[in-house]
Amino acid sequence: MTSLLNRFMEGTSRRVDAVLNRLLKSKPEEPAEIRKAMRYSLFAGGKRLRPSLVAAAAECCGGKAGRVLKTGAALEMIHTYSLIHDDLPAMDDDDLRRGKPTSHKVFGEALAILAGDGLLTLAFETAAANARDCGLDGRASAELVKVIAVGAGTSGMVGGQAADLGAEKWRGRLPRARAGRLLEYIHLHKTASLIIASLEAGAILAGGTAAHRRALRAYGRAIGLSFQIADDILDVVGDKKKLGKKGSDAANQKLTYVSLYGLSRASAEAAALTRKAHRALAPFGRRAAVLHELADYIVTRDR
Ligand code: IPE
Ligand code: IPE
Ligand code: MG
Ligand code: MG
Ligand code: MG
Repeated sequence: MTSLLNRFMEGTSRRVDAVLNRLLKSKPEEPAEIRKAMRYSLFAGGKRLRPSLVAAAAECCGGKAGRVLKTGAALEMIHTYSLIHDDLPAMDDDDLRRGKPTSHKVFGEALAILAGDGLLTLAFETAAANARDCGLDGRASAELVKVIAVGAGTSGMVGGQAADLGAEKWRGRLPRARAGRLLEYIHLHKTASLIIASLEAGAILAGGTAAHRRALRAYGRAIGLSFQIADDILDVVGDKKKLGKKGSDAANQKLTYVSLYGLSRASAEAAALTRKAHRALAPFGRRAAVLHELADYIVTRDR
C-alpha cells in the first residue's frame, strides 16, 4: 500500500472508530449483552474499507471527510452485520472472523442474529443523523437513506447473499455460460452493492452532481467485483493468519471466480476490472488520487 493510501485509511479508521465507540456506549435501559455482542464484532479489526470509500467519494465531490464519518460508521455497521450473519451455521458456518471466534461461537446464535439486527437498525439512525448534521434538505436526506437501503436490501447485499446460498453445490448443475452470469449477479449484489452505496452516500452528503454519482457508480461496480474476486482468490491462496478467517468456499462448494474459471483467469478478470475502475474516475482528475490507489490495493491486498 502506498503511503498516501495508508495515511488516508488509517486516519479514516481512527476517526470512524471514535464515532463507533461513542455510538455503541452501553445504555442503562438496554440489556448489556446486546451492545457487547455488537461491539465485539465491530472492534475485531476490519479494514474499514467502506468508511474510506464514503470519505474519499465525498472529497472527490468537493466535500470534507470529517463531515461524513457517521455515514462511514453506518456503512461499517451494515457490513459487520452482514459478516455476522454470513458466518452463522445456517449460512457459511465459519468459526473465525477478523482473527477471533465468530459472534455465534461467543454469544450463541440467537444473540448473533440480534447483534446483526441491532447494527443494521443503528446504521440507519446514524446515517439520518449525519444528513441532519450536514444540513441536507428533506429530499437529499431521503435520497441518502434510500441509497443505503437499496444497497443493503434484497436489490443489493441481501439479494446477493440469497443467490450465493442458492448456488451452493452448483457443480455440474448449470451450463458454464449460465453459471458465469449467475456468478456475476452474486458478486455484484452480495459485495459490490454496499460498496457502490458507500460511494454514492459520500457523494450525496457532499452535494455531488448526477455526473459525479454516475462516475462513482461505474467505479464502484468495477472495484466491487474485483474486491470479491480477490476475496475468492484469497480464500484459496491467502495466509489464513493474515486474513483472520479460515476460508470455507471449497467445503461449501461455493460458486466463485476460482471454482468456475481457475486462479489465473480470475486474476486476469480482476486486473481488467481495475483498469475499468481507473477509467471511470476520469471526470474527477487529480481529486481521485485516493480512489485510484484503492482500486489497485483491492486486488493486491493480503487480507
Ligand atoms: C469481507 O469483507 C466480506 C466480503 C464482502 C468479501 P472485508 O474483506 O472488507 O472484511 P473486513 O471488514 O476487512 O473484515
Ligand atoms: C460474503 O462473501 C459477502 C457478504 C455480504 C458478507 P463471503 O462469504 O465470501 O465473505 P467471507 O469470505 O466469509 O468474508
Ligand atoms: Mg458467504
Ligand atoms: Mg463467508
Ligand atoms: Mg469469501
